[in-house]
Formats: sequence, C-alpha cells, structure tokens
Amino acid sequence: MSESQTIAPRVLAGGIEKEPWKIEPYIRRGGYEAWKTCVLKEDRESIIAVLKHAHLRGRGGAGFPTGIKWEKVYNHRVKERYFVCNAGEHEPGTFKDRYLIKHHPHQLLEGCLIGAFTVHAKKSFIYLNAEFKEARANFEQAIEEARSKGLIGKNIMGTGLDLDIEIFDGHGSYVAGEETAMLESMQGRPAQPKQKPPFYPTEFGLYGKPTLVNNVETLSHIPAILRNGAGWFIQVGTEKTPGTMLFSLSGAVNRPGVYELPMGTPIRYLIEDCGGGIPEGRGIKAVFPGGPSFAMIGPDQLDLPMDFDSLKKAGTGLGSAGVIVIDDSACMVAQTLKLSKFFEVESCGQCPPCRIGTGELAKLVEKIEQGNGTQKDLDQMLQICGFVKGTGFCTLVTGASILVQNSLRLFKHEYEEHIKQQQCPFHSTATVTDKEQ
Ligand SMILES: Cc1cc2nc3c(=O)[nH]c(=O)nc-3n(C[C@H](O)[C@H](O)[C@H](O)COP(=O)(O)O)c2cc1C
Repeated sequence: MSESQTIAPRVLAGGIEKEPWKIEPYIRRGGYEAWKTCVLKEDRESIIAVLKHAHLRGRGGAGFPTGIKWEKVYNHRVKERYFVCNAGEHEPGTFKDRYLIKHHPHQLLEGCLIGAFTVHAKKSFIYLNAEFKEARANFEQAIEEARSKGLIGKNIMGTGLDLDIEIFDGHGSYVAGEETAMLESMQGRPAQPKQKPPFYPTEFGLYGKPTLVNNVETLSHIPAILRNGAGWFIQVGTEKTPGTMLFSLSGAVNRPGVYELPMGTPIRYLIEDCGGGIPEGRGIKAVFPGGPSFAMIGPDQLDLPMDFDSLKKAGTGLGSAGVIVIDDSACMVAQTLKLSKFFEVESCGQCPPCRIGTGELAKLVEKIEQGNGTQKDLDQMLQICGFVKGTGFCTLVTGASILVQNSLRLFKHEYEEHIKQQQCPFHSTATVTDKEQ
C-alpha cells in the first residue's frame, strides 16, 4: 500500500474514544456540523452534487452511485417520498453495520437526517434487524440525545423543519435485507423481493411512492464527506470507487473484527496485517472476499485489490465486504454444506427455481459429505446450478449456485475423495462465523 493509502480511519474515526456512541464525543469531532449546514442553507442540489463528485457508491452490496440515487428521488415528479435506512444485515460473515450502529449511532443518525431531508421525505425509517439489541439501545439513545439538542424532531434548530426517524423492527432474515423485500415487510406483507424492473424503490417504494433506500455504512460516510468535501474523500481508494470500506473479517484469522481500509487494499493486507494471519501457523485454503454469494479465491490470489471492479474482473465480487478466511485444515465439502443450508433456509420460497434449487443443492452436498455420494451427484449439482443461476427476483439462488459451482471447480478433488472413501476424510474446523463485535 502506498503511503497516501495508509490513512486515519474515516467512518470509524473516534473508535478509540471512550463511549464513542455518546453525543458529546461526536460533536467534539465535528458531528452534526454537516447537518446544521444542510438545514440552514437548504441547498439540496449542492448536497447531491458533492456526493456525485465524491463518487460515493453504496456499501450495501450493489455499489450503486449514491448521488445518482438521491437525485432520482429528489427530482421525482411524485412529491410524496419516503426514506429508509437499510439495517437488516443478516449475511454470514458480515457484521460491519451492526458495529457502526452500536459504536457510532450519531454518525449514522446524521447521515439518515441528511438523506431524508435532501429528498423531502414525508416519513423516515431505519429498518433495524430485531436481533441487534445493543445496537438498537444505542441508536435509541442517540435519537433522544439529538432530540434534546434540537437536532431532530419538531422545529429543528428553530427553522420550522420537522423530521424524525422511526425504528422499524426488521425480520432478522437474509432476504428481508433485499430492498424490495424489506419494503414489502414494512407494509405488513411477507418479506419477498419484487421484480426489478419495474419495482425499483426510487420509483415504486414504500406505499408505492419514490423511496430512498441506503445502507448503514453508505449513510455513515455522508457527514464526513459533506464536512470535508468530495476532494478529501477521493484522496484514498480507487478512481472508480474512492474512499474507505469497512471489512468484516472472520473465520480462520487471529484477530477477527471490523477494519476500515481504503478501497483497493490487497486482501493479503487485511488478513495478515490487520487479522494477524492464520492461527497456529496454518495456511490459507480459500477466502470469500465478498460473503458466501460471491466466488472464493485461492491463496495465490491474495494480492487482489478489494474493490467492486477489481474483484468483479477477477470473477468474484466485493458485496458488502464480508471476508471469510478458510484454513488448510478445513473440509471444503463441509464448508459448502454449511453455506448451502444457509441459502436453503433463507430462501423465501417465492420463486420455484430458488425454493427447489437451494434445497436440492444442499441435499446433494450433504449426501456427499456424509459419504453417500456418487460421481453422478457431482454432475447433477452442476446441472442444477446451470438451471437456476440468474433466475429469481433476487440474487439469492444465483449466490447459492455460484457457491457450489466455485467449490466444485476449486476443490473437485475433495468431493471425489469423499465419494471414493465413502466418508469425510477431514476433521474440519468451523470457520464461517457471524461475530458480535
Ligand atoms: C438477498 C439480499 C440481501 C440483502 N441484504 C442487505 C442488507 O442486509 N443491508 C443492505 O444495506 N443491503 C442489503 N442488500 C442490498 C439492498 O437490496 C440494496 O441494494 C441496498 O440496501 C442499497 O443501499 P446502498 O445503495 O446504500 O448500498 C441485500 C440484497 C440481497 C439480494
């Protein structure tokens, strides 16, 4: 990493302060200055222009340009709009949003206020995974602290502006984090994704109205970008994806946790320098650089830069940067089984290829892991992957098929060994974690 890339943290700034979730330390380091400027200047177009210049891309998985999304809702001919912060985080190995809400709730709250204000939201929500008890308590406290200082609620800063953020108890399911499923569940319907097009939230969101949906981390970047300017933000990261990203590091590493690094940082740096390498001096067998829905990479690819474009070019993806490390003592069939079962359980069942495909894949991987598999099962697994990939209203079944295809491509010999020995030849270690920070 070049010197300019070894920067002080931006989203996690203040992380070493005592009780960073309280309002005083946040205000001491410039918190709510951006919000005050937004309210007093009322120049929404400038806010959007800064975000566009900063090339901020969504951190919820898809990497969509944030400024463009805000502009779409801001310019929409329908004047009744809504704002929802997506805090539904429920993917194995991803825990950065929970960390942010718990430790830096004011930063998120300020980002939410600015987003809701910019698009003239009639009502604003945070869809918060109901399992995040401590994070919720800190966020509720942050709202009350901000209220006592006149930063949220009625007649904000004496300007006549009324704006509040309501907490909506999220499902605690993976699919409920998909934005259209989230909006469905907020309207009392099953958390099932809708077909896109036409159901983009910016067009047909909550109550059928234009809705701004952003991820927790995306919103947490906003106050510092507006305070310091787009030029400051683009000093680090890559040209196409500037700024930093919060990487959730888990699995076979000595120091799992949330690490903020410039976009484009090599995977090796995260695992070795931040994570302290692999326990007991073992080697790396595989790494999921972007959670279980994107292809694994091998130990020969650790110098790949972690950003949306580089990982896509390498045949995988960044997703929401849940980096899971698997060491060389693990059984890859067992690892694949664990995640295949996750996809099976989390499928909402709406789309037949997903409902049936995820179940069939998990069944076949389990058969092999238990020593009952045949060569024919391997062919059938690949055939199912081919059938179901790209189908469905969301990407869940595509993730499930990529997992199996990629596992078979990289570790076919392990599957064949299970079939030959009619048992699992490994004593595997559990490496897929979802760690509370
Ligand atoms: C199965 C699935 C689960 C998802 N879960 C989340 C989630 O928990 N949090 C999140 O912000 N985005 C999640 N997303 C992405 C959202 O649909 C959406 O792209 C994101 O909230 C937009 O915010 P951003 O532009 O700030 O990234 C998920 C997508 C899929 C397909």
